[in-house]
Amino acid sequence: MACARGSLLKEIDLTKAQFLSLVEDARLLAQAHYDDDSRERLAGKNIALVFEKSSTRTRCAFEVAAHREGAHVTYLGPSGSHLGKEESIRDTARVLGRMFDGIEFRGFSQSSVEELAENAGVPVWNGLTDQWHPTQMLADIMTMIDNHDGPVEEIVYSFVGDGRNNVARSLLVTGALLGMNVRIVAPRELWPPADVVDIAETLAVDSRARILITDNISDGVDDADFVYTDMWVSMGESDEQWSSRVELLLPYRVTEQTMKLTGKPESRFMHCLPSVHDRSTALGQSVFDRFGLDGAEVTDDVFESPQSLVFEQAENRLHTIRAVLVEALGN
Ligand code: CP
Ligand code: NVA
Repeated sequence: MACARGSLLKEIDLTKAQFLSLVEDARLLAQAHYDDDSRERLAGKNIALVFEKSSTRTRCAFEVAAHREGAHVTYLGPSGSHLGKEESIRDTARVLGRMFDGIEFRGFSQSSVEELAENAGVPVWNGLTDQWHPTQMLADIMTMIDNHDGPVEEIVYSFVGDGRNNVARSLLVTGALLGMNVRIVAPRELWPPADVVDIAETLAVDSRARILITDNISDGVDDADFVYTDMWVSMGESDEQWSSRVELLLPYRVTEQTMKLTGKPESRFMHCLPSVHDRSTALGQSVFDRFGLDGAEVTDDVFESPQSLVFEQAENRLHTIRAVLVEALGN
């Protein structure tokens, strides 16, 4: 069975027009909310939220978006259901598909979300896998468009950090899809895998995107409108990875100096969150105790600066996920 219309498993399932149309829908839905428009476009719908990993933004965005549109949600967390233990993805998909109108899935392997979509018979939305984070990309591009004068194709953005992780991969192929100027700035050991670079380069032929993958920070952030980073160790990776990541990535930490290297005083800082930017969390304290670092991938002064868009990005998760739900299931 092919996956149902309205599914979103990875960015490149969308055309450029479809991607930008979802962003535009999100803007209209955000406006409708601020205008007190209380139409319920998903009245009577039931949505399952399946999480193999932790989440704050993605879970809350799906829940609040669904509630605002009159839908009900059921949360299945990393423990408490049979999924992955007594029951396969395929069987779970066939059960949930008979009860729910749509399913969000956050997990480890991309093949899991694809298997779920192939067997559920209802739309499935990828809320992050080890490979891709497509709903994050909708929010990020919305945020970039809202903070840039001029066409999307003129936006220049640089991801600085672990270039192999889900967010970096997604930023690379999204920029390629939309014809943007996208850079991945990382030590060679952490460059995106060749198959992902191939996807981006193939998309760039038609979209005329400019792609740069470099270990040179000055070249990589020169002229960037947006400097983006993410955690140095992602969910599902072992805590032991921190030692080698700190060694590799310390020169790539986003600091005031990195922001200055863009050459654009108006350049903005982005992060999908959560972030290690101080010692206020158990992880932040542990990074300080183990490595003497106060914050990791970004310094607190950049995170808290007026240049930082991180909470606007977080809010836009809600508007864009709402657009995805309404597009797939709206009455
Ligand atoms: N950015 C993001 O996906 O956040 P959560 O892990 O909190 O969902
Ligand atoms: N790369 C991070 C993104 C979190 C939203 C992770 O996968 O943990």
